[in-house]
Amino acid sequence: MRILVIHGPNLNLTGTREPGIYGARTLEDINREIVARGAALGCTVTCFQSNHEGAIIDRIHQAREDADAIVINAGAYTHYSYAIADALAAVALPCIEVHLSNIFKREDFRHQSTLSPVCDGMICGLGPQGYSLAVEALAHKNA
Ligand code: DQA
Repeated sequence: MRILVIHGPNLNLTGTREPGIYGARTLEDINREIVARGAALGCTVTCFQSNHEGAIIDRIHQAREDADAIVINAGAYTHYSYAIADALAAVALPCIEVHLSNIFKREDFRHQSTLSPVCDGMICGLGPQGYSLAVEALAHKNA
């Protein structure tokens, strides 16, 4: 199974950005763990990060050719991007939404996700482990 993991805006700064909220581990370190977890489950994990909505949408479209499932942390786009939600609906791949922080424990604007209605599930508040749990869920779903 080929799993595409998408990290949205500002997540490239994970490790230095508000570490009390997002943790001290870098995105590179987190990606290494996700790829290893995927490999242990017989999955190929590809990680992609962009700060640009259009680039994220283009990558989701490309997933029709090179992925069987998607894990997405769209960062703040989660809360207002109907375009990313439409792209996920268009490709119709199994998809799990992940957030490092518990978005429901934070500001009101973070309580809404435009992506949840087009995703199969959502994991939030568990830090980087959420990505590996999402990969596990997708791998088992496919088994
Ligand atoms: C986030 C939560 C979002 O509200 C925020 O804008 C992010 C990161 C998370 O992983 O907790 O950039 O998606």
